[in-house]
Amino acid sequence: MPGRRLLMCSVVFNGIACRNAQLYAEAARVYDWVVPPHAPNPLAVRLRPVQDEDLPVFFDQQRDPEAVWMVAFTAKDPSDRGAFDAHWAKIRADDANHNRTIVVGETVVGSAASYVMFGERQVCYGIGREFWGRGYATQALVALLAEVTERPLFARVVADNAGSIRVLEKCGFRVIGHERGFAEGRGEEVDEVVFRLD
Ligand SMILES: CC(C)(COP(=O)(O)OP(=O)(O)OC[C@H]1O[C@@H](n2cnc3c(N)ncnc32)[C@H](O)[C@@H]1OP(=O)(O)O)[C@@H](O)C(=O)NCCC(=O)NCCS
Repeated sequence: MPGRRLLMCSVVFNGIACRNAQLYAEAARVYDWVVPPHAPNPLAVRLRPVQDEDLPVFFDQQRDPEAVWMVAFTAKDPSDRGAFDAHWAKIRADDANHNRTIVVGETVVGSAASYVMFGERQVCYGIGREFWGRGYATQALVALLAEVTERPLFARVVADNAGSIRVLEKCGFRVIGHERGFAEGRGEEVDEVVFRLD
């Protein structure tokens, strides 16, 4: 139908041209409404391998003071670019790690990963603050769970990180325990919730 096709092109063009995540999200919703369900949606949240150009974006996101507070178990100095680069070089070289960049359209909105800690396969994720509250973390974790098929999976979240706890619960993770440990990001001991997905 020509009218629908024109609307679709206009939505896609505006979404790509504006590079604004809120408009992307809106465009993605309209795209889903206009285009048949089986058609790929270029504006949806998706995961791709990490590229070198993503690292400066991750660096800014992970040193955001609010994100540091929420994650709590961070590097000693999240603003130390040398330590950040050394960490990423190490984790990217390890085949046991599954590191992904979260993108919407062409915009890098965050990162997601799975890695082994304490002999258990964990998941974690982070979204840039300007993109919070748009469902990106939930969609990214759903995508990560499709890529990482090993079960059980585990996640550890500081007890007051309500957003991350909600993301895990929405994806089927269940609380299996509580721990307490020193968190560099807060300079004190914090309560942590342990989640498991079977
Ligand atoms: C936690 C975080 C990943 C959430 O990302 P997001 O893209 O905003 O999450 P979503 O939009 O998918 O939201 C999922 C649910 O959590 C809720 N939520 C999100 N942030 C919240 C907050 N700060 N407080 C309470 N609820 C919150 C949403 O309302 C939504 O629930 P609903 O579907 O019932 O309405 C993001 O805030 C972040 O990256 N924080 C810093 C890094 C971090 O904490 N990572 C996790 C480490 S374990």
